[in-house]
This record gives sequence, structure tokens and C-alpha cells, in this order.
Amino acid sequence: MRKKVIKAIFPVAGLGTRFLPATKSIPKEIMTLVDRPLIQYAIDEARAAGIKEFIFVTSRGKSALEDYFDDAPELENALRKKGKTDLLDALRSTNMDSGAIAYIRQNRPQGLGHAVWCARRLIGDEPFAVLLPDDVIAAEKSCLQQMVEAYAEVGGNMVAAMEVAPEKASSYGVLDVAEDMGSVVRAKGMVEKPALGTAPSNLAVIGRYILTPKVMQNLSRMKQGAGGEIQLTDAIAEEVDSGQVHGFRFRGQRYDCGSKAGFLQATVAFGLARPDLRDELADFLSQMAALPKAAQ
Ligand code: UTP
Repeated sequence: MRKKVIKAIFPVAGLGTRFLPATKSIPKEIMTLVDRPLIQYAIDEARAAGIKEFIFVTSRGKSALEDYFDDAPELENALRKKGKTDLLDALRSTNMDSGAIAYIRQNRPQGLGHAVWCARRLIGDEPFAVLLPDDVIAAEKSCLQQMVEAYAEVGGNMVAAMEVAPEKASSYGVLDVAEDMGSVVRAKGMVEKPALGTAPSNLAVIGRYILTPKVMQNLSRMKQGAGGEIQLTDAIAEEVDSGQVHGFRFRGQRYDCGSKAGFLQATVAFGLARPDLRDELADFLSQMAALPKAAQ
């Protein structure tokens, strides 16, 4: 029997330089899409997929993230007294059970692979998920849940993958496909940020992974890869020869909230998806679209 995936790592120790100056004092993951921080979307997705242990890899200046998941008794009392039950429910949905969250420190930002490796003792000998909170995925069924179901069938390591335009491939890890089975592909290679025109396919890896403990062992031996960082892609790529790396074409819309354009697109999309905001926002957007570019 395959072990269930109940642990997830949320690497949140990056510098978030693309959002400076905001990220000088606010962790990127606390920035809000409509009224919920990015990290809340990732936690909800993980919960829906059956994750029970949430491991955050943090760094200096991220204490707002730790506070966010605590109970807030003063706020709760104030809302209760005023009878604001909707807000009280929204607030309570952010509380995490005592002991469900662990915080591990990455002392220096040495790359995503290094951040994941920092959690090795909490993972032990179990499969685990990794979710990058700046990839936000709108989907009917949570992306990680779709992956957990596919993983139950094929096992091994699984990375979320999506088709990208050839000129965009150099911003991603890209799969070299051995066998295409529809939603699942078996990889025979994986390259991080290939030079323009050298990508082995247009299937790019985005920030959701289900990984075996073997990848953690690979990370322990890892040297710096592309960009002088320890790359998670390299540690996963070591498993392709044993046929143990699968790409998963998820159903859903992914927003790259680590970039300003992606964050703005997600804000509009999530705003339009909210019944309480949709009409006003749609009116505003159509007025803006009708204006000549110079006047906007
Ligand atoms: P990014 O590549 O988006 O880097 O990291 P970043 O630091 O967050 O943002 P920019 O590029 O400077 O604007 C992808 C994910 O990996 C985590 C980040 O927190 C983010 O969730 N990460 C990255 C770490 O935890 N540690 C690292 O050393 C690097």
C-alpha cells in the first residue's frame, strides 16, 4: 500500500525582490488577493487534498505569517459582541489547530531546493507535498487534490505541469517527455530555465509537487545549480532514470502571483468570481477598456 500524503512544505523564505519595496516589511505570502492572503489559498488547497501537517520554511522578517494562523481572541470577542457572524466565520477559518503547523528556518536564501531540504527532519521517510504559495490555482477541484488522486494510481514523484508558449519556457523548469498518457506524462528529463530555443518540450513545471523521500536524500548531496541556487528541479531530475517522475496536467487556471502582472490578473479574476464584487468591478473594467490607452 502506498503511504498517504499528509505532510506539506510551504517554502516562504525567499526575498520576494520583485515586489520591493512592499516586501521590505511584508512577506509576499501575506499580500492579499481580494481579502485573503496568498498563503490562505495554498493552505485551503492543501487541506482539501487531505494534508494534516503544514511545514513552513521561513526566514527573518516573516513573523506576520506566523501570527496570521494564530487564534485572535480579542477580534473574535469584538465581532461576537457586534453579532458579525459572517466575519467571525471568515476569521475562524484561518485558525489552525495547535501542533498542525511547524516553522523551520532557512538561514540564508540558497534556493528552493535548499528551502525544501531544511524540512528534512520533519518529513522523515514519507512522501510529501510542496506548495509554492505565489502560484495560485483557481480550480473546481483543488490542484493538489487532483494530484493526490493521480499519485494514488502511479506513485513516484509528481509535478504539476502546464503548456506554455515556447518563448516563455526559459522562465520555468521544463519536462522532457518519455510517454504521454493524457493527464499524466512520464518524464525522461527535466531542465531548469533552459536557454531560449533549447527547451525539450512546452510542458512547464509550476509550484505544486508530490515527492518521495529519495528527493530529500538527493538534495542532501546537491551542489548549486542554475542561478547559483540549490534547485529542487535538479534533485527531482535525478529520479527520471528510474521512471519515477511524472508530470500532471492539472485542470484549472494558474496565476503567477510572484510577478506583478500575474498578481494583478489574479486580483481581477478573483474579484470577478466574487458575487459581492462582480458587478461593480465588471462595470469599472468595461469603462477602463473603453478609454483610449493614453487616458487610462
Ligand atoms: P521565487 O523564485 O519566487 O523567489 O521563489 P522569491 O524570493 O520568492 O521572489 P523574487 O524572485 O525575489 O521576487 C519561489 C518560492 O521559493 C521560496 C520563495 O519563498 C517562493 O515561495 N524560496 C526561494 C525559499 O523559500 N527560499 C529560497 O532560498 C528561495
